[in-house]
Amino acid sequence: MASRLTSMATVLVTGGAGYVGSHTCVALLQAGHEVAVVDSLANSSAGAIDAVAGITGCRPRFDAVDCRDEVALEKIIAEVRPDAVFHFAGLKSVPESVKDPLRYYRHNLESAAVLLSVMNRAGAHRIVFSSSATVYGVPDELPVAETASLRPCNPYGWTKLMVERMITDMVEADPRWSAALLRYFNPVGAHPSGLIGEDPGGVPGNLMPYLLQVAVGRRPALPLYGTDYPTPDGTARRDYIHVMDLADGHLAALGNLESSAGQAMICNLGTGRAVSVLEVIEAMEKVSGHSLPHEVCDRRPGDVPELWADPAQAFRDLGWSANRTLADMCRDAWTWQSSHPWGYRRLPPTIPTTGAGVLP
Ligand code: NAD
Ligand code: UD1
Repeated sequence: MASRLTSMATVLVTGGAGYVGSHTCVALLQAGHEVAVVDSLANSSAGAIDAVAGITGCRPRFDAVDCRDEVALEKIIAEVRPDAVFHFAGLKSVPESVKDPLRYYRHNLESAAVLLSVMNRAGAHRIVFSSSATVYGVPDELPVAETASLRPCNPYGWTKLMVERMITDMVEADPRWSAALLRYFNPVGAHPSGLIGEDPGGVPGNLMPYLLQVAVGRRPALPLYGTDYPTPDGTARRDYIHVMDLADGHLAALGNLESSAGQAMICNLGTGRAVSVLEVIEAMEKVSGHSLPHEVCDRRPGDVPELWADPAQAFRDLGWSANRTLADMCRDAWTWQSSHPWGYRRLPPTIPTTGAGVLP
């Protein structure tokens, strides 16, 4: 008989209205699981939950609650009685974390500590945590395996490593706990329906959302940070992974939790392929049919020249590997952005364009 976690589990998803969380909710619901979302909407919109319901035909329970609100979270967990918790909620901007480190430490560590306390009291001992490849800092060797040195270069990265440690300590203290600590490389793309996608507030800090805003005319040109890297075309290389492959990785981790009591498994979620900034621009030009202007700038402080995953452990332990291509990532991202140029908000009809069709 299939285990409950592979057949029909109840999963509490913190941060489920956000980018990776909403895509994972779709994957969970389409796999027949029950989903309850807790999200403060600090960096997202309830429109994402409506869209998840539209894609799947199932509306998850949704509580607009901050994970640091212990009383509210306790009540939700008592009502939902989750078989597992996926913890996406948190602050994720590297530059913001450098400017205001205490805010990041307080927010991300407190959210995790409160969640783990509430789970412990409720007897919910299975957790999947969104960690990041940023825990590796500048790697000694490529591709990066899970055994590589851990030396984050910014407070955001340190919060990820500290929460990994917090969860590992819980598992070591009580073998009823099981955990999957998933180190994402660079999630991009969107659900192929184009109904959900990445919707950053303000000026996008990451490559793909910035490029998409250039493609829809919201910004005139992409700042290209550095063409003097020791790489084949001089631009930095990363391991871009389709967000639906990432979501599938979470499903695989869920299936593994039941048989891994007493363990905190750590897995890279990446493709194992290095792609340069110029290759991303070229791929996006192809799928969007637009020429995408870029302005060469100095290297962005804190950027590493190259980072890509050794994904072998995820295949070995979870039976998971990424299979969508860069063209798939660009096509699906473009389907989302071209049908939602302003994300989940609607464009006010009175907003004028500036210059040559560039939207403010
Ligand atoms: P996101 O900002 O789109 O989603 C995070 C969600 O959590 C948002 O909806 C936000 O409103 C919510 N949230 C924040 N703090 C909360 C709190 N205290 N209580 C309840 N809700 C809260 O980010 P994302 O890109 O979907 O990332 C999800 C997770 O994956 C984050 O933990 C992030 O650090 C991690 N991660 C993301 C990336 C990436 O490139 N997107 C890479 C590596 C790791
Ligand atoms: C950044 C974060 C990392 C986080 C990841 C995914 C930093 C230092 N690291 O990684 O912690 O896990 O996002 O959210 O911020 N680029 C441009 N122009 C742009 C934006 C980016 O040329 O406008 C380049 C960057 O210099 C980099 C590549 O594109 O070479 C990818 O950048 P980005 O999408 O921000 O991801 P990372 O820097 O890998």
